[in-house]
Amino acid sequence: MEFSNKTANLSGSSIRDTFKALANNKIISFAGGMPSSAFYPADEFASIAQNILNTNPAKALNYGITEGYAPLIEKIRNRATEQNILDNTSENQDSPQILVTSGGQQAINLTAMILLNEGDGVVVENPSFLGALNAFRSFGANLYGVPMQNAGMDIEALEKTLTTNKNIKFIYVIPTFQNPMGVTTSLQKRKQIIDLAYKFNVYILEDNPYGDLKFNPSTPSLPTIMQLEREAQNRGNVIYTGSFSKILSPGLRVGYAIAPREIIDKMTVCKQVQDVHTPLIPQMIVNDYIENFDLNKHISKCNAHYSKQCSHMLNCIDRLFPKNSGIKATKPDGGLFLWCYGGKKDSATLAKEALDLGVCIVSGNGFLPNSTDSTSSFRLNFSASPLDKIEEGIGILSKIVG
Ligand SMILES: Cc1ncc(COP(=O)(O)O)c(C=O)c1O
Repeated sequence: MEFSNKTANLSGSSIRDTFKALANNKIISFAGGMPSSAFYPADEFASIAQNILNTNPAKALNYGITEGYAPLIEKIRNRATEQNILDNTSENQDSPQILVTSGGQQAINLTAMILLNEGDGVVVENPSFLGALNAFRSFGANLYGVPMQNAGMDIEALEKTLTTNKNIKFIYVIPTFQNPMGVTTSLQKRKQIIDLAYKFNVYILEDNPYGDLKFNPSTPSLPTIMQLEREAQNRGNVIYTGSFSKILSPGLRVGYAIAPREIIDKMTVCKQVQDVHTPLIPQMIVNDYIENFDLNKHISKCNAHYSKQCSHMLNCIDRLFPKNSGIKATKPDGGLFLWCYGGKKDSATLAKEALDLGVCIVSGNGFLPNSTDSTSSFRLNFSASPLDKIEEGIGILSKIVG
């Protein structure tokens, strides 16, 4: 089959394997990127959905406006203001606007759609989130990977990349509890990224679906890049994307973009082309949940759980992985993942062997900007499996990690 140039090189093989494997519930999965299913607020959602359909069917089942369900936009605005992503001065013509999207994924895709011409460049963290890399690839962009360090991108390498490559449109960063590594970009690096974006006149796409999932109370919450840019020169060159997937439920598909009006207006026209609007019932469910229940309390409960899960996984790795494997793991302060690096075995081979033994991991290859590169690094999710399964799964991996 001859697919378009823009999509011919997209591959989702590791993710596809993951979903196939997850259909078999005997598999121990460290693969997905979702909250623990034990924490989905199913009872609350059931009563909210019932109430919406009983009391407001004409609204819930009709077309909605592309920008999103107005009460939800207000909730997102209030939450973003509480978190200093937006400032608390009154709305004016220059204030950033909000577009509700079908997951954060659509917000990323719309950013690519409105900014990228074929052959343009996007600077990405290496490794980075496959869904974003594929979105950029699908618009014919060249990806320039900047190596990740413990506290974010190697800033010298970022400057060199921006100096040597022309037509770069934006820098894509996941500054907090990054996917796949679980690391957080330091305050200093956040400021340096903004300075470089000013110097080279490029946008920053700040993707922050995991920011609320901080489970280590002893680390400070860092300001978002959007906040820091506003406090610096307020040039409005940051596009911020968020999501309810990781704090409530990924299946609802509710996310959002926050950006200057001109950008949101263009994204809105493009979203109209894609799906007219995000389905209203999920938007109303999220809105009513925030209105009637305590979202922050829910997040704290999840975080207390993830903290235990993460420590247990790190402890199992420390105890069970052979010392001569060379493998080290990142130590996240939040989020859903940790990253194992420094091993000797190709991670695609390791992932296949692991799956044969009933453990699903995501090999690092899919997260690399150059999709033909190989790596021994791999990603482990710690949120979804019970503690005994974490122990069992890491035990199985320890026999094959090399
Ligand atoms: C870094 C990052 N950004 C965005 C998304 C998109 O999530 P969703 O479309 O479910 O909001 C994900 C999902 O895994 C992610 O890891």
